[in-house]
Amino acid sequence: MEAKHPNDSKTIMTDLVLPSETNPLNNLFGGELLARMDRAASIAARRHSRRIVVTASVNHVAFKHPVPLGSVVTVEAKVSRAFKSSMEVYLDVWIDDRESGECTKANEAIYTFVAVDETGRPVKIPKIIPETDEEQIRYDGALRRKQLSLVIAGKMKPDEATELKALFFD
Ligand SMILES: CC(C)(COP(=O)(O)OP(=O)(O)OC[C@H]1O[C@@H](n2cnc3c(N)ncnc32)[C@H](O)[C@@H]1OP(=O)(O)O)[C@@H](O)C(=O)NCCC(=O)NCCS
Repeated sequence: MEAKHPNDSKTIMTDLVLPSETNPLNNLFGGELLARMDRAASIAARRHSRRIVVTASVNHVAFKHPVPLGSVVTVEAKVSRAFKSSMEVYLDVWIDDRESGECTKANEAIYTFVAVDETGRPVKIPKIIPETDEEQIRYDGALRRKQLSLVIAGKMKPDEATELKALFFD
């Protein structure tokens, strides 16, 4: 299976924030942003694997800045690392400034997707080769994030999470 680059899976979704999608402070409802990110991440995972993909976990979400009603929101998703059947998808969320047109980073998130066959069984996916410095940093951190997610899900014993332990003890 030929290796791919993170850019091969790059997915950009731009949309407005409408009144029905906001909280009482007139900012985008967190669940709405999660859904938009899930959609973009699922397209990125599909582009990488060319298989059916399912969300296995949401590893990290940081709602750093509120996204006001009427904002133009861009969600950018790229696969940052591929394992056997699972892949980490890194998401960056940007808001356009109406007057200057400048983009400001509002939020980021990390999802895990698994490629499956028609019966829902995990299948092998292509490896990934990072190209930029940022892609390399995200690639390097992905294994410990996978281990953390598996430990939290009760699918890995903390003792087996070597990369994760190294973060604290080396
Ligand atoms: C995700 C799913 C396919 C995993 O199936 P499974 O029987 O646990 O399969 P495995 O244990 O072989 O795991 C498959 C891969 O997923 C990874 N994985 C499973 N759970 C994970 C988690 N919580 N965090 C990170 N990775 C996880 C495993 O490490 C493995 O990765 P690898 O093959 O790259 O090494 C299965 O749990 C599922 O179908 N879940 C429902 C998905 C869904 O419906 N999502 C939408 C939610 S509404």
